[in-house]
Amino acid sequence: MLSYLLVLTVIVTVEAQRIQGEQKNDSCVCKLSTSIWAFPAVRFERIEKQVQTCEENLTEFQKKIKDRNVQMPKIESTLKNIKARLAPFEYLNTNGLYNALHLQQLIDELNNIYSTASDANNKNPSKETQDLLKELTNAKKDAEKMYKSNVFNLETMKSRLRDLNNRVQTCKTLPEDFRSTCHQRIMSNISSPVVTKLNSVSKSYISGAWGRDAKQDGKERYWEHCLVSGHQHGNTIRMYNSYEDFMASKNYKDEYIASSYSHKNAVQGSGTIVYDNTVFYQCYTTAEICSFNITTQTTKRIKLDGAGIENKFPFCYYSCRDWTDIDLEVDQNGVWVIYATEENHGNIVVSRLDPLLLNITHTWKTQLFKRSVTSTFMVCGVLYATRFVNTYQEEVFYAFDTITGQEINTLSLPFEKVSAGIANLNYNPVDRRLYMYNDGYLLAYNTFN
Ligand SMILES: *[C@@H]1O[C@H](CO)[C@@H](O)[C@H](O)[C@H]1NC(C)=O
Ligand SMILES: *[C@@H]1O[C@H](CO)[C@@H](O)[C@H](O)[C@H]1NC(C)=O
Ligand SMILES: *[C@@H]1O[C@H](CO)[C@@H](O)[C@H](O)[C@H]1NC(C)=O
Ligand SMILES: *[C@@H]1O[C@H](CO)[C@@H](O)[C@H](O)[C@H]1NC(C)=O
Ligand SMILES: *[C@@H]1O[C@H](CO)[C@@H](O)[C@H](O)[C@H]1NC(C)=O
Repeated sequence: MLSYLLVLTVIVTVEAQRIQGEQKNDSCVCKLSTSIWAFPAVRFERIEKQVQTCEENLTEFQKKIKDRNVQMPKIESTLKNIKARLAPFEYLNTNGLYNALHLQQLIDELNNIYSTASDANNKNPSKETQDLLKELTNAKKDAEKMYKSNVFNLETMKSRLRDLNNRVQTCKTLPEDFRSTCHQRIMSNISSPVVTKLNSVSKSYISGAWGRDAKQDGKERYWEHCLVSGHQHGNTIRMYNSYEDFMASKNYKDEYIASSYSHKNAVQGSGTIVYDNTVFYQCYTTAEICSFNITTQTTKRIKLDGAGIENKFPFCYYSCRDWTDIDLEVDQNGVWVIYATEENHGNIVVSRLDPLLLNITHTWKTQLFKRSVTSTFMVCGVLYATRFVNTYQEEVFYAFDTITGQEINTLSLPFEKVSAGIANLNYNPVDRRLYMYNDGYLLAYNTFN
């Protein structure tokens, strides 16, 4: 039964990506846009039929256990929890998307369930526990098999293409200052909060962004941007000329980015950043990036090809944070935009922007599913992603180095927060601090490489 659940998860993926097959000799071959993306589809269809009854069977099985009043509280709760445990992977079903990292997480989940079941079996062996262990063993085998890409040669091919693309991006001619002064690569520690303050408007503004102008040698300007209209839009940004003014919430100037929060140049979502007295943000309801230069009061915009918007690929690790489809970041190497595309299966795509011309110079594709992280930021050309640990703790767990194309899935850099939800996290290369908009609270941290 468990193995069917697992297969269901993955099979819908294939279903979502399936296109008309063509008979060649005695097998059915599907082709995606290029001829190399061929894979056998027949076996998937066969399994798909089987899994349709699987959820019903699960419910039935649970009921059976209950009715018999089996003396196995641990097993019962394990079974009850199966759906809940798999819930974080629900999006795999609904969106038809997955990646190797998720498969690995799924294997970890299966291992956890297995050890719980095995405990129960040792303490109170019965036919049910034996059967469950057998099924779990099979499920684990299936998952391992998939993980080793025997089944998903389509995926292997795509990941090969993605690697090739990334290598090409990294080899592309880079501006002279691109590799800048960052010798240190991966971040090693994040301090306790060094700034903790409620935003200056109201505690009810739980979504937005804040930080310090990220241009090196720029003036020391702090900014605060709260989203209105269902935590979705904004049209003003509050600017402070010193840290003291910011902390005291005084002597600020509210700059108008657009005349109203539903103007075409208004801000959508909490991915906003300020660099060189210019606000970079997702333009109102479109897959475009806007830049509003406060000095010249002019707006520029550029299209972000294929970017999912309108809560298609928001940050979602535990509960989805609406209006986080497009995340702007700045580091020593310039301005970056982090988003996801269908073409990259909902995985994070990182593009580097030229801040003055406002055009995209490079694009890397990661294997990190955007909906499986809470927030992202960039330091020295390295993308970092965080996940929710609990209400008061967050953890950096992933890094992608745009210079080497290397992905690190094993980081564990915990840091504190004061509330569960993160609307924005951005790094500032001038003071090397991380800035967080934490459900209306404004926090900052020192970082160490
Ligand atoms: C069909 O099978 C024959 C003999 O095994 C082989 O030569 C041929 O290339 C196959 N055709 C396709 C389209 O796979
Ligand atoms: C579901 O249960 C029915 C009846 O118990 C069984 O015949 C069928 O094989 C089960 N299907 C799956 C996918 O486990
Ligand atoms: C990280 O920083 C914390 C607090 O500043 C400190 O207690 C801890 O020892 C540091 N860890 C490492 C690995 O440097
Ligand atoms: C903003 O405008 C000022 C004044 O023209 C200019 O010096 C600066 O480079 C501009 N910055 C951006 C990011 O467009
Ligand atoms: C960026 O835009 C400028 C002016 O529109 C253009 O000349 C330049 O070729 C563009 N660069 C890239 C990498 O697209």
